[in-house]
Amino acid sequence: MDLHCFWVGICLFFGFSLVALCDKDGFLSLTCGGTADYTDSSSISWIPDSAYITTGNTTSVDYIEGTSSSSVPVRYFPISQGRKCYKLPVTNVSSLVLVRAQFVYKNYDGHRRPPSFSVSLGTAIVSTIDLLKNDPWTEELVWPVDKDMVSFCLHEIAGRGAPVISTLEVRPLPQEAYTSGMEDFPNKSLRKNYRINCGYTNGTLRYPLDPYDRIWDADQSFSPFHTSTEFKTQLSFNFSALKEAPPAAILQTARVLARRDMLTYTFPLDTLADYYIVLYFAGILPVFPSFDILINGAVVQSNYTIRTSEVRTLYFKQRGIMSLNVTLKTISFYPQVNAIEVYEILDVPEEASSTTVSALQVIQQSTGLDLGWQDDPCSPKSWDQIGCEGNIVTSLELPGISLRSISAAIGDLLDLKTLDLHNTSLAGEIQNLGSLTRLEKLNLSFNRLTSFGTELENLVSLQILDLQNNTLQGIVPDSLGELEELHLLNLENNKLQGTLPLSLNRESLEIRTSGNLCLSFSTMSCNDPSSNSSIEAPQVTLFPRKKHTEHSRVAIILGAIGGALLALAIFVFLLVLLHVKKRRTEMTCAARAVEDMRNWNAARVFTYKEIKAATNKFKEVLGRGSFGCVYLGKLSDGKMVAVKVRFDKSQLGADSFINEVRLLSGISHQNLVGLEGFCHEAKQQILVYEYLPGGSLANHLYGPKSKKVSMSWVRRLKIAVDAAKGLDYLHNGNEPRVIHRDVKCSNILLDKEMNAKVCDFGLSKQVMQAEATHVTTIVKGTAGYIDPEYYSTQQLTEKSDVYSFGVVLLELICGREPLSHSGTPDSFNLVLWAKPYLQAGAYEIVDESLQGTFDVESMRKAALVAIKSVERDASQRPTIAEVLAELKEAFSIQLSYLASRDM
Ligand SMILES: *[C@@H]1O[C@H](CO)[C@@H](O)[C@H](O)[C@H]1NC(C)=O
Ligand SMILES: *[C@@H]1O[C@H](CO)[C@@H](O)[C@H](O)[C@H]1NC(C)=O
Ligand SMILES: *[C@@H]1O[C@H](CO)[C@@H](O)[C@H](O)[C@H]1NC(C)=O
Ligand SMILES: *[C@@H]1O[C@H](CO)[C@@H](O)[C@H](O)[C@H]1NC(C)=O
Ligand SMILES: *[C@@H]1O[C@H](CO)[C@@H](O)[C@H](O)[C@H]1NC(C)=O
Ligand SMILES: *[C@@H]1O[C@H](CO)[C@@H](O)[C@H](O)[C@H]1NC(C)=O
Ligand SMILES: *[C@@H]1O[C@H](CO)[C@@H](O)[C@H](O)[C@H]1NC(C)=O
Ligand SMILES: *[C@@H]1O[C@H](CO)[C@@H](O)[C@H](O)[C@H]1NC(C)=O
Repeated sequence: MDLHCFWVGICLFFGFSLVALCDKDGFLSLTCGGTADYTDSSSISWIPDSAYITTGNTTSVDYIEGTSSSSVPVRYFPISQGRKCYKLPVTNVSSLVLVRAQFVYKNYDGHRRPPSFSVSLGTAIVSTIDLLKNDPWTEELVWPVDKDMVSFCLHEIAGRGAPVISTLEVRPLPQEAYTSGMEDFPNKSLRKNYRINCGYTNGTLRYPLDPYDRIWDADQSFSPFHTSTEFKTQLSFNFSALKEAPPAAILQTARVLARRDMLTYTFPLDTLADYYIVLYFAGILPVFPSFDILINGAVVQSNYTIRTSEVRTLYFKQRGIMSLNVTLKTISFYPQVNAIEVYEILDVPEEASSTTVSALQVIQQSTGLDLGWQDDPCSPKSWDQIGCEGNIVTSLELPGISLRSISAAIGDLLDLKTLDLHNTSLAGEIQNLGSLTRLEKLNLSFNRLTSFGTELENLVSLQILDLQNNTLQGIVPDSLGELEELHLLNLENNKLQGTLPLSLNRESLEIRTSGNLCLSFSTMSCNDPSSNSSIEAPQVTLFPRKKHTEHSRVAIILGAIGGALLALAIFVFLLVLLHVKKRRTEMTCAARAVEDMRNWNAARVFTYKEIKAATNKFKEVLGRGSFGCVYLGKLSDGKMVAVKVRFDKSQLGADSFINEVRLLSGISHQNLVGLEGFCHEAKQQILVYEYLPGGSLANHLYGPKSKKVSMSWVRRLKIAVDAAKGLDYLHNGNEPRVIHRDVKCSNILLDKEMNAKVCDFGLSKQVMQAEATHVTTIVKGTAGYIDPEYYSTQQLTEKSDVYSFGVVLLELICGREPLSHSGTPDSFNLVLWAKPYLQAGAYEIVDESLQGTFDVESMRKAALVAIKSVERDASQRPTIAEVLAELKEAFSIQLSYLASRDM
């Protein structure tokens, strides 16, 4: 049969629905290492791969296929050339694609050593290619994608040669295809093992017969027992029931069993795994047969029937098999099957959380180096310097890289167990680590750290703490003794002196102290003339708290007594005493502070018990961040609240906490989330806010699709206006002035009526004196929103909030997140990507769901103020008041546009 005619014939048959299928858009066909475009005999256009990969060397190889000899380009990757990844664009996000790769060795290098390597797609390792077994080797994957880009990577296997590839294809598949019966296999993908056009023996069929360009192999050598019968018919079939949309040409042939007997397909498999089997049946015979279907000897469908002109599919899963046979057993007439597909079911590891990914991006930015951190940090292979358990980052090792200070972003990696920052030029105080309560090993040695800071005591899981060769001064803080798991503490080669806390004197803990000015459990040894280190005339920073001096006096006495046994008994006694005393001072301090606070206006004081009852023992988590958790609560009067619990007491000292509460209680504005009250007891620092049931702007923009539809342009402008009002109040309506420092979509909350309020002043800085123009601080904030000028100068002004707010405006306009972790480098950063388009009035980058619904002038105003707000030079940015004015105008223009349209 002439294939071309047949194609036209089907087109006529299926009329309109075929227009879409005929559309070749969405095909990507790369000739790897190729240099020229060409169109093949199926009129598929092939292009060189150089725009999709940056590594690898190219060459070509001559080889004979069938009767013709051809020269095939290949791309190969000499050993240790770094990442070997293609970035494949996907035209239809949240769809199913077929990715097909062909690997050819054919002795292109003359070494006669076919390589073996593995390949990955997205986060999953999908296969190991062994060109010694098969050359060429083809892999085909059926992949659900939820991004506009998917990475396809080759990974060398040590000692097995240089990975090589010759072609790579991406084809969209019908939505919903290959999902039936897979409900109990979430997050899986498929790797093709067999796709057979049963009853057809004259070669393979693909595009244009199959508009999705699946390759259907001829039916040969699958049934040693039976002769194949090829039927062809001009009957018409109704395909709309089949999600896989198999081409008619495939269903027009079948393998039919002519005698009363069994028909068996035997499929050798290469891996012990779970498999997915699809059988296609079409009633192309004038009689209808009935038969049993058996897989590996077990009946999976009994008395199965196909009527004339009917098309049907059956789906089966087989768990943990190494070989497969499919048998049709006659009941009446002649069993038949028209096509068979067999897929290995692959696990797709979950991606790491977006908080983790953006924290790591900030860390990479702060090094000023390209660490090659791309795609997912954990899968398919964890990045250099990073270790994972599942999709959780548990170790970070950056020795030798100049960091200068401990980035706040490290505090966002809440699951870290190992952190190695030795020899990274760290200076000043140990900070930003207080949230790492799971940390077991911390190596900060060979830096220029001068102070312990106040956060180490929160690292309750810490086992090894290495601080050797820093310039730590003064005495060793008491709080280290509270780390009960600690078993190695290395303080060698610092400038410490004085007595060590008694609480560190325990059998399970090894302490190394040599190379300090004078450091021991007993002060007596400091008078030892052999200890000459004090010659350096140390600059001692005394610890200001009273209990420490008291403490050392006790130690002197003890040192004099010396009796170990007695000492021990007294130690215990004193420890208890000290502890009790410490607690008491803490309590009275807190109590006094609370008393102070009662005198301020708004905020209500809660007891911890009340908080526990309100949150139903912290049952429902609303959010989680480096500061701690936010829980849903209900006060005794029925009012819903959001309860923010810091698990990190010292991240804010008692003073700062009181300061923050004082600041927050003084601020009340309809576009700022209000503080209901707080709790400050012993180790607890809890803030109670009004609860906004509408969730965050981020939820609405990036949550489930259904919600996004309701985010019209006018609604987005209203939210922007509201949020700008809130920020304007912080910057201009309030004394002291407040800089928010963490403006982002997830910090803009919505109430029931979709009014927006700005929340989370946790990082806020108040500008005390009216004349102060900036404050110098450590850079805090969220990746993608941080003012680049603030990053480089560390000088914080209100314009930094304007920058972050500009990013929020760009998100409202474009409907995408500020950093995209999949995408070409050009589109990685929203600001860099969107600016030129919006400047040029090219509104095709406006969120798809807004297209055709906005007034161009309204959009122009909003876009212009957004791009001005993200100017690199802070002085070029408008003030928030100016931003607000422009947004109000854009809003009213859109309103009148809608009104005129409705008339
Ligand atoms: C691969 O290409 C790089 C430059 O792109 C070159 O330096 C290197 O020598 C090449 N390797 C081989 C084996 O040809
Ligand atoms: C993209 O996906 C949508 C459904 O999500 C579908 O309606 C549309 O036809 C797809 N487009 C292409 C080119 O496959
Ligand atoms: C599947 O993936 C989604 C998001 O990618 C995740 O939310 C869900 O928990 C995963 N399901 C399972 C069972 O792993
Ligand atoms: C097999 O297909 C080729 C073209 O692909 C055609 O020339 C030949 O006639 C076909 N053979 C049979 C037996 O149909
Ligand atoms: C094809 O089948 C679908 C569902 O199975 C049915 O809704 C539709 O009417 C059928 N079309 C024709 C032309 O029979
Ligand atoms: C099919 O597989 C089953 C179970 O593995 C085996 O018992 C049976 O002999 C196989 N049948 C054929 C025809 O290979
Ligand atoms: C198979 O099903 C048909 C009806 O679909 C019924 O008439 C026949 O008796 C059944 N045969 C067996 C062996 O169950
Ligand atoms: C560590 O400190 C000691 C004493 O100051 C010094 O001798 C040694 O060279 C230092 N080691 C390194 C690697 O700097």
